[in-house]
Amino acid sequence: MTKCIGILTSGGDCAGLNATIRAVALRAHHGYGWKTVGISHGTHGLLHRPVAAEPLDPSRLDAVLARQGGTFLGTTNRGNPFAFPMPDGSLKDRSPEMVEGLRELHLDGLIGVGGDGSLEILRRLLSGTNLPFIGIPKTIDNDVHQTERAVGYSTAVAIATEALDRLQPTGASHERVMVLEVMGRDAGHIAIAAGIAGGADIVLIPEVDWHLDHVVRRIDALRRTGRSSALVVVAEAALDSHQGERSGDASIGEWLAHRLMEMTGAEARATVLGHVQRGAQPTAEDRLLAAAFGVRAVDLLAAGKGDRMVGWWNRSVIDVPLEKVVGRSRTVDPDGALIRTARALGICLGDKG
Ligand code: F6P
Repeated sequence: MTKCIGILTSGGDCAGLNATIRAVALRAHHGYGWKTVGISHGTHGLLHRPVAAEPLDPSRLDAVLARQGGTFLGTTNRGNPFAFPMPDGSLKDRSPEMVEGLRELHLDGLIGVGGDGSLEILRRLLSGTNLPFIGIPKTIDNDVHQTERAVGYSTAVAIATEALDRLQPTGASHERVMVLEVMGRDAGHIAIAAGIAGGADIVLIPEVDWHLDHVVRRIDALRRTGRSSALVVVAEAALDSHQGERSGDASIGEWLAHRLMEMTGAEARATVLGHVQRGAQPTAEDRLLAAAFGVRAVDLLAAGKGDRMVGWWNRSVIDVPLEKVVGRSRTVDPDGALIRTARALGICLGDKG
């Protein structure tokens, strides 16, 4: 009998999701003669009756899809199935309804494309069923444990780098300090990679304990060498230990630009890049990762495996038990290659002047 597998995207969107869905459906069709069903709106689609899902006919999945940002299945980063917010403000365990929804689809396996939070939720949801589950890591934050790369990260770094390329000439023309705030949740992966690639003078990330005085000193030092502008990259979570000093809704980037104006006398401007980092054509690297992950995920199901995540390690596609992934996150190694590279280039990380 023809088998049927399901796929859903969950958590914040990023570039490369459509390429991942396509790779899964094509591998299932060409490799095994299986059908693939796409579940809409992440886990929320499982609450609809009938379940919000559609067959993914390979004839619909041409290469145009691999070039498109977003996820045509839709996604959500709200509504934990085990504590689902109800209209009256209460929280309800709606996981049994979702499991029932999965049963209605008569699937032989499920592939979930998500970050660490989504993969943990999906694993828990599937634990009471016999349905094999394989996770594919995606997040611009690149913080999923046990994989060096998640789908979406490369594109986010490319966008942040391009932002620095555009900020540099305007900053130089006006002799300003240009502060670029990037996403990354609790990790500084985007900030450090884009900072190196985009020629930043200063990069501030949560993994390195930095101080404003050192940043000010570096800007003063740059001025003494004749440089009248500077590029600063700050990760959105970089100021945790200084939180008390920040007022109201000011983002870390805005707060930093304001403080640098006060403390250096230079003009400073902040750019908060925000969701621009998520919505774009995926880079070639993200498309390749999506293809390799999609193929491996289907092959794992075909081999009768479940409760695993595919990943990228040491230039190879790997798979690891999901229990080794969930509940942890992979932050920037303060002694790792990127930090050493940044320091070697003279980039200030705010822990010294
Ligand atoms: O996890 C991806 C991410 O884009 C983070 O970098 C960011 O902190 C968060 O999601 C933003 O979430 P939302 O889309 O709900 O504003």
